[in-house]
Amino acid sequence: MKWVDEILQEIKQCDQIKDLESLRLRVFGKKGLLTNEFSNLKNISDGDKKQVAKALNDAKQSIESLLTAKKSELEELVLNQKIESQKIDVSLFNSTLLPTYGHPINITFDRIIDYFVGMDFSLKYGPLVEDDFHSFEALNLPRFHPARDMQDTFYFNDGMLLRPHTSPVQIRTMEEGRLPIRIISPGAVFRRDYDMTHSPMFHQVEGLVVDKNREVNFANLKCILEDFLTYMFGDIKIRFRSSFFPFTEPSAEVDISCIFCKGLGCRVCSNTGWLEVLGCGVVDDNVFQAVGLKNVSGYAFGLGVERFAMLSYGVNDLRSFFETDLRLLEQF
Ligand code: DAH
Repeated sequence: MKWVDEILQEIKQCDQIKDLESLRLRVFGKKGLLTNEFSNLKNISDGDKKQVAKALNDAKQSIESLLTAKKSELEELVLNQKIESQKIDVSLFNSTLLPTYGHPINITFDRIIDYFVGMDFSLKYGPLVEDDFHSFEALNLPRFHPARDMQDTFYFNDGMLLRPHTSPVQIRTMEEGRLPIRIISPGAVFRRDYDMTHSPMFHQVEGLVVDKNREVNFANLKCILEDFLTYMFGDIKIRFRSSFFPFTEPSAEVDISCIFCKGLGCRVCSNTGWLEVLGCGVVDDNVFQAVGLKNVSGYAFGLGVERFAMLSYGVNDLRSFFETDLRLLEQF
């Protein structure tokens, strides 16, 4: 059967999957070469039949296995060509790229971080899933302390919780026991809250400065926060209003003159002329005791990033920061 060698040769030289398919049909199709030979078997004399049948079966097998091998070879070739042609050259310049936008929360984070890094603060991060000790106990908020009500916390069944503020990072930093401490800690926090000015997930920046003896005091705190708020909001008035936080004594809340009405009184500032922007104070001695630090002094502060972003950009619904609406984001 001369055609068998010819077909085998053709399969070997084939370089297209579709040609391979026509070759297969030429051999195995309804009127295919091999199909014909098999149906001709009945016309062959009994003496020769066995030998011819064996030759046909051998031919069938070698053609089939060559077809299979060739097919996977060609498939691999196609795949490789595809991979090669789809390679992305990330260094290519594409003039049709769309501009990207900064998210107002990220931009605000960056500005805050820029300021404090410029003032020689380091960045420190803490876990989002916290324990009771770091979130409350060590911050002078013992169990059943009424001030725990200030934060509506998400609890897990095993006593762990989603941190309701960044203050636990203060504890984790002081536990390392290295002085001086001069850190800010940016990050997400969680509370059971949802309305125009509250979201169950939002962001804070915590600040902590600790050094030995009486070296860190309220005057240092006042000085840096006044400078920081002027950097953030420009020409504003600033006031420190006596307040209470369990982890600081004395404590203060800081107000800036309303940036919308310049202190004259408007809807945003509820006609007071002032906007509250952060909490701060001198670190309470009980906090130092909880982490085993002696003969040290320090100040701390904490601020809400969304609040800063809302004031900076005149956004009045905090939830719009998390809706990923391009019409808002395009403006940044
Ligand atoms: N942890 C407070 C809160 O979430 C904010 C705060 C107030 C942080 C005063 C401080 C501080 O470090 O000194 O409301």
